[in-house]
Amino acid sequence: MSPSHSTAGSGARCPVTADPTSSTALYGPDLDGDAMPALYERLRRAHGPVAPVSIAPGIDAWLVLGHRELLQLTRDEQDFSHDPRRWGLLREGRVPADSPILPMVGWRPALLFADGQQHRRMRAAVSAALAGINGHELRRTVRATAEQLIVSFTEHGRADLVADYARKLPMRVITGLLGVDEETGRQLVEAVAGTVAANSASADASRRMGAILLTLIEQKRRRGGNDITSALLRHPAQLTDEEVLHNLVVMFVAGNQTTVNWIATTLRILLCDPAFRSSLTGGHLSVDDALDLVLWRFPPTQNFPARYATRDMSIGGQNIHTGDMLILGLAAANADPEILPDDGTPVVGNRSHLAFGAGPHTCPAQDPARLITRTAVDTIRHRLPDLELAVPENELEWVKSPWSKGLAALPVRFTTPHLPQHPTPSTRSAL
Ligand code: HEM
Repeated sequence: MSPSHSTAGSGARCPVTADPTSSTALYGPDLDGDAMPALYERLRRAHGPVAPVSIAPGIDAWLVLGHRELLQLTRDEQDFSHDPRRWGLLREGRVPADSPILPMVGWRPALLFADGQQHRRMRAAVSAALAGINGHELRRTVRATAEQLIVSFTEHGRADLVADYARKLPMRVITGLLGVDEETGRQLVEAVAGTVAANSASADASRRMGAILLTLIEQKRRRGGNDITSALLRHPAQLTDEEVLHNLVVMFVAGNQTTVNWIATTLRILLCDPAFRSSLTGGHLSVDDALDLVLWRFPPTQNFPARYATRDMSIGGQNIHTGDMLILGLAAANADPEILPDDGTPVVGNRSHLAFGAGPHTCPAQDPARLITRTAVDTIRHRLPDLELAVPENELEWVKSPWSKGLAALPVRFTTPHLPQHPTPSTRSAL
């Protein structure tokens, strides 16, 4: 049995009660992106490190808020499977076919949904492909893409750094890494966005995405190149075309929005946090410290679905049943008072946050993701040195999502762009 009796299933404000059997809705029109940290603390006080929540109408799950419990969840594949075919509600036919949660957690032949040997096999191919990325080339590609975007909005003296910059940059870079030409990349980006939008057009978008990627795979099988798709196809793990396709989708989906959020939130900190502004100028803190602060305080994925209990057990004082879904509460675990110093501020240089998960499924792209983000942030700082926020900081809003932690917009203004005399030549590959 899953946690039951949702207290806010209609999407009404989440009343957190101390009743251990009642679950709190993490969805609905009233979800307040700004209030999520406070919600996690109320859940922690009411239920301890593992709290009953509902993530869609009729879909109950456990949110793991404790740092220690989250490490246990992510490290122990025996007790906590990645394979959604073990999900009790699904097996019992209690997940509606049009449930908004299905596009996120439905099984596909990709590493994210596999355990043990099957996971290791696909992970080996994905890790090898990512390890083949040439950091120097990637930095050049990101800088060139960033400069093109900056040039596209400089004449206005204003921009929204989410819509005009952060949202455009990683998808261009990642499609290049996958070996997709620019026009196909645009089509792919649209198709992936339509697929994950989880609405009535998603099935069509998903078919388009599959067709684009299959064509790409056929092309790369005929004539491989210096790109992630070709590296996956060449790997001794001998992935099938279908496996290559679904692992490409996972890389794209897992890498795009997370990197968008990481770039925009870091820029917010550099623009708004007076300590950071002056420390950076004075050289006491680096952009990397700002990147780490974001991973601690505003992890780009605040909650990550999911693991499925493979047996009845107790964790964090809750009785979990075989087939229950558990959500990785990455933001809440990072804020766990058990691991933070008394003043609640993460220590500079400490990277024991869980923004990238942990255990065998920990994000395999941490290095390229950091390089993309750092280069994106550095490039805009150097090209627009008098960048400043165009609205009061308290008008900035987080998107209303229980999963993604990203800014809805980051309006800025500037007067004196330092545009490149010789823009970095654009390259599409970084391997
Ligand atoms: C180029 C950018 C990125 C790519 C290609 C990428 C790719 C992936 C892939 C393939 C996985 C599945 C790993 C597995 O199941 O074995 C994954 C997992 C994950 N990634 Fe990334 N990622 C990127 C950036 C990021 C960023 C910026 C973050 C957040 C800071 C992030 C957070 C995560 C998390 C939380 C998981 C799940 C870990 C778990 O299940 O335990 N990723 N990523």
